[in-house]
Amino acid sequence: MERSRRDDIDAQDRIEVRASGPLEGTVAIGGAKNSVLKLMAACLLTEGTFVIRNVPDIEDVAVMGEVLRSMGVSVSRSDHVLTINRPESVTPEAPYALTEQLRASTAVLGPLLAGIGHARVALPGGDDFGPRPIDMHVAGLEAIGCQFEVSGGDVIATADNLVGNPVLLEYPSVGATENVMMAAVRAKGTTVIDNAAREPEIADLAGFLNHMGGQVAGAGTSTIVVEGVEELHPVEHTAVSDRIEAATFLAALGMAGGEITLVGARPDHMAMLCRKLGDMGVRTSADPDGIWAMCSGRLRSADVSTLPYPGLPTDCKPLLVAMLSVAEGVGIVTENLFSGRFRYVDELVRMGADIRTEGHHAVIRGVDRLSGAPVRASDIRAGAALVVAGLAADGVTLVSDPHHIDRGYEDFTGKLSALGADVRRERPGG
Ligand code: EPU
Repeated sequence: MERSRRDDIDAQDRIEVRASGPLEGTVAIGGAKNSVLKLMAACLLTEGTFVIRNVPDIEDVAVMGEVLRSMGVSVSRSDHVLTINRPESVTPEAPYALTEQLRASTAVLGPLLAGIGHARVALPGGDDFGPRPIDMHVAGLEAIGCQFEVSGGDVIATADNLVGNPVLLEYPSVGATENVMMAAVRAKGTTVIDNAAREPEIADLAGFLNHMGGQVAGAGTSTIVVEGVEELHPVEHTAVSDRIEAATFLAALGMAGGEITLVGARPDHMAMLCRKLGDMGVRTSADPDGIWAMCSGRLRSADVSTLPYPGLPTDCKPLLVAMLSVAEGVGIVTENLFSGRFRYVDELVRMGADIRTEGHHAVIRGVDRLSGAPVRASDIRAGAALVVAGLAADGVTLVSDPHHIDRGYEDFTGKLSALGADVRRERPGG
């Protein structure tokens, strides 16, 4: 088949990694992607000018900016600060061209329903993780008075009267908890969300809503109580630090060895991960600047099971699998959140890893060294894990489709090379 020009451009955009180490120095951890995207959506709740600080310069934030702009909201960005001006009237629609690029754009549902009483949001469709429905978002929002229908691939939602009610989530879904919280903030009466997700990004969003004049209690626990209020006002807010970006640099340290400080990282948000990394031979401790970490010698294997926060994050799993590929012994990894999140495993196997997957499980027998190979990033975290794997691989690892990594990491290669890693981005045109 003939190659298109686009294929040629994509083929030239790649990350080249060579065996590296030891890493040393400091790396600044940015604001959390998964918080900023929801804070941006929450700006739809009321008219006025919002300022969000500590915003990473990443593609997903750019796409969420487009989602808001397509509704008539003005969004400007400069030096990690977003200024969002929500006019009095907005077009409450998110088109497929944008939602298919960013599943998190469904976070506009709750604020649009609370802010103007209706929304039309294109369903984002499936992705590499397997099916990712929004049935729990819908059930939670229905419990507080929203109505839904699906037409032409869009969810059409209306809310004439939002009323506080008990909402029992079937599973502590991050997105469903956030959507219900953002709608309930303007409902009449009290909403109690039980089996709520407890992620630090949820607590950050609750802080934002409270600062706006909302009354949200218990965020960060599995019971969130939202007293509806009649009025909200725009605010300035600094986003919480990105625990998954921090985890990614800890994984890089595990692969390459060395001693680094993650400036701005929150050890209190990463307790389970730091404990697991400790079992594997990466020492971490709280530091006045963030997290100090050190690793020397060969990593040790451990078993890993992903769970909702405060369990081990599914987003760290590809990183841990990369580390286990070169650890001493055998590790069993179990994915409990998504039905398919092992696609990068075939790429690690191409690099010489000994991994067998069966359903939700992977068995990893550590090998002494990986060997560099051309591999493809299939999502944000898988892409980051392949770059990290390349740090402990002989020869050259070429990671193609690095645009997936750009969705969630600001200047990933620049930050890694500043720590001494032999990593560089090759862009089309040189
Ligand atoms: N689920 C349903 N129905 C729903 C909602 C979720 O069946 O209505 C299922 C999902 O299919 C999945 C599980 O519940 O199997 C967990 O989904 P959850 O709603 O908790 O995840 P999310 O809100 O879609 C966020 C992060 C993900 C992260 C997960 C789990 C954002 C933008 N995304 O997704 O982050 O993996 O929580 O912690 O906040 C990433 O950053 O690379 C990323 C994928």
